[in-house]
Amino acid sequence: MAGRVRVPGDKSISHRYALFAALAEGRSTIHGYSPGADCASTLSCLAALGVAIQRVPAPAGSGVPTLTIIGRGLRGLHAPAAVLDAGNSGTTLRLLSGILAAHPFTATITGDDSLRNRPMRRVIEPLSRMGARIAAENDRAPLTITGGALRPIDYTPPVASAQIKSATLLAGLQTAGTTTVREQVATRDHTEHGLRAFGVEVRSFEGGVSLEGNQRLHGIDATVPGDLSSATFWAVAAASLPGSDLELPDIGLNPTRTALFELLVRAGAQVERSDARVEHGEPRGTVRVRAGSLRPLVIGPDEVPGLIDELPALAAMATHGGDLHVTGAAELRVKESDRISALAAGLRALGGDIDEFPDGFHVRGRRQLTGGRAHAASDHRLAMAFAVAALGAKEPSLITGADAVDVSYPGFFDTLAALSGDGR
Ligand code: S3P
Repeated sequence: MAGRVRVPGDKSISHRYALFAALAEGRSTIHGYSPGADCASTLSCLAALGVAIQRVPAPAGSGVPTLTIIGRGLRGLHAPAAVLDAGNSGTTLRLLSGILAAHPFTATITGDDSLRNRPMRRVIEPLSRMGARIAAENDRAPLTITGGALRPIDYTPPVASAQIKSATLLAGLQTAGTTTVREQVATRDHTEHGLRAFGVEVRSFEGGVSLEGNQRLHGIDATVPGDLSSATFWAVAAASLPGSDLELPDIGLNPTRTALFELLVRAGAQVERSDARVEHGEPRGTVRVRAGSLRPLVIGPDEVPGLIDELPALAAMATHGGDLHVTGAAELRVKESDRISALAAGLRALGGDIDEFPDGFHVRGRRQLTGGRAHAASDHRLAMAFAVAALGAKEPSLITGADAVDVSYPGFFDTLAALSGDGR
């Protein structure tokens, strides 16, 4: 696999820029907003809450969409006329819950079958402690949130999750006093950098983050970097397929997300970074990945939060002759699918050798995959992981439910076809 692949805008950062722009005063212009369905869900929820959003067509050939968003100021959203639909997007549902918790109206937010099965106690708990009233059957969406004046909180989430941290901070931002979130293992810090870019003072310290409520946000002009988690699929493919040399320009290189590249080096690949720069607190640059011969990898609980979205791709890499042992990753079971069972089932269907544990898995790549029919379980990252695994199989493979890639990476299969030179 050789060439240069520009991936779509980062999903985590796109959600945050749109949400913060809605809470800001004035106009924000966001370039390179993720074209995926998840980030579109955030925009449609914001529009239903009275936020004016305009999509500016991408300049010819650039393929990079631009948005303008006119903010409504803190606590300035309108009560929605209908149920808000977050689609497949946990980030939309959880972060928006933190915002709605401080608004003096009742709103219901729900999502697709997958999202309605995911645990929401993790945001209901801190937001209720702050004073929001949240109704939810079995702690699952739909959540009906009656917000209002809240109390600040000093909170330690029970699981390492940037979504819980962000929901709590967003409620705290609209609440008088200091809100603090403490973490044993650091999670991605796009909320902290994003809020600072919009003019909020956020204090990060060893083991946590805090902010004072009622700080005003101002609109900004920002460019979202390419999504490292989408680039991951090309990076692992390049690391796995002998002779590969692939360049991934303009991707986000926030240190809370770059553990992947250390892993690839540990696995034997050559990884080089160039064009490093920082915009609005977010490092970005170009990464070049060249294949080496794969060495075994062991990933334990402390490394998991920094690699949580990369684990399906790393499992796919291991099927190309490597070996990957992961523990401490029970969170994978409550992602867009049960990413341990569905990953194991799909890789086995392609002829892989994989053991499943309650909190992880072990992929042994000793034998070449046969190819087969793998089911993506409506999960974008599994569809892409199975595609990368299938590149190493003796026979062609069929991935069912592969259109799930549209959640984060529309066009993934076109790029794959172009890179594989099948002439489509
Ligand atoms: C995300 C945080 C992670 C990640 C998800 C996006 C975010 O989830 O898996 O894809 O944007 O904050 P958790 O916070 O639930 O671990």
